[in-house]
Amino acid sequence: MSQIHLQVNNLSKDFGGLRAVNNVSFEVNGPELIGMIGPNGAGKTTLTNLLDGALIPSGGTIYLNGKRIDGIKPYQVARAGLGRTFQVTRSFRRMTVMENLLVPGMALHTTASRKAQEKKAWEVLEFLTFEHLANEYARSLSGGQQKLLELGRLLMLDPDIIILDEPFAGVHPKLMEKIYEYITTVNARGKAFILISHDMDTIFTLSKRLLVLNFGSLIADGTPDEVRQDPTVIEAYLGEEDEEYGTAMPVVDVHQLVEEEGDAS
Ligand SMILES: Nc1ncnc2c1ncn2[C@@H]1O[C@H](COP(=O)(O)OP(=O)(O)OP(=O)(O)O)[C@@H](O)[C@H]1O
Ligand SMILES: [Mg+2]
Repeated sequence: MSQIHLQVNNLSKDFGGLRAVNNVSFEVNGPELIGMIGPNGAGKTTLTNLLDGALIPSGGTIYLNGKRIDGIKPYQVARAGLGRTFQVTRSFRRMTVMENLLVPGMALHTTASRKAQEKKAWEVLEFLTFEHLANEYARSLSGGQQKLLELGRLLMLDPDIIILDEPFAGVHPKLMEKIYEYITTVNARGKAFILISHDMDTIFTLSKRLLVLNFGSLIADGTPDEVRQDPTVIEAYLGEEDEEYGTAMPVVDVHQLVEEEGDAS
């Protein structure tokens, strides 16, 4: 197993006058399972876009396993070992599920033969319990199944670090369980995850470490327990509470988490 090391140094991204990501630094060491949370517009997706090469940073550097990856193209970042899924699912709708799985390998010119790729694709389908869907067009899949197909495509590339942007949003509970299982199983196989979600229950349960973004800045980096009790984090989620709009994040259960914490002590 290769040694996984991601190093993000003072990363920033400006959109005109708006600083969407502000001086963010953190590291991923080994097969960690990290959650990334933050109110809407905090900069989570923008940070992901910087990490996977879709956006060029306004400042800062990113190293993956010792190789500098900021400023290189997404396919080169993928080859270097970082893969991501999208908040809005992207699949080749007019291709079959099997063809969708074979595309990443072909696009990245992996050395594996077509036969080896197909064998791997069947393993991925089996893992997803998707064998029966192999010849369906991607467009005929449900939203949740499309998310799983995206996860399957990632497995074909076998990245060291996987960033999932809202994998549970709008997914049927049954498929949610499957995605949950995917994350824990692939993590146990030695892959690192950065999981972005507004589903607080899930993310606090799954993650061993949490990164919290607010207005583009990393305001906390610690264990779920540390983050839960961090006054800056509580302020970020509850500070904007307002009679008309409520909290900045509709599904947040920080109220409850804070109460539970209180009960336990
Ligand atoms: N391409 C862009 N051009 C201009 N502004 C952008 C662009 N992409 C994002 N932004 C802005 O950058 C900020 C961060 O947005 P981002 O999508 O990264 O937040 P997020 O944390 O992913 O939010 P959500 O939880 O709603 O997905 C927001 O103010 C957003 O409007
Ligand atoms: Mg987002």
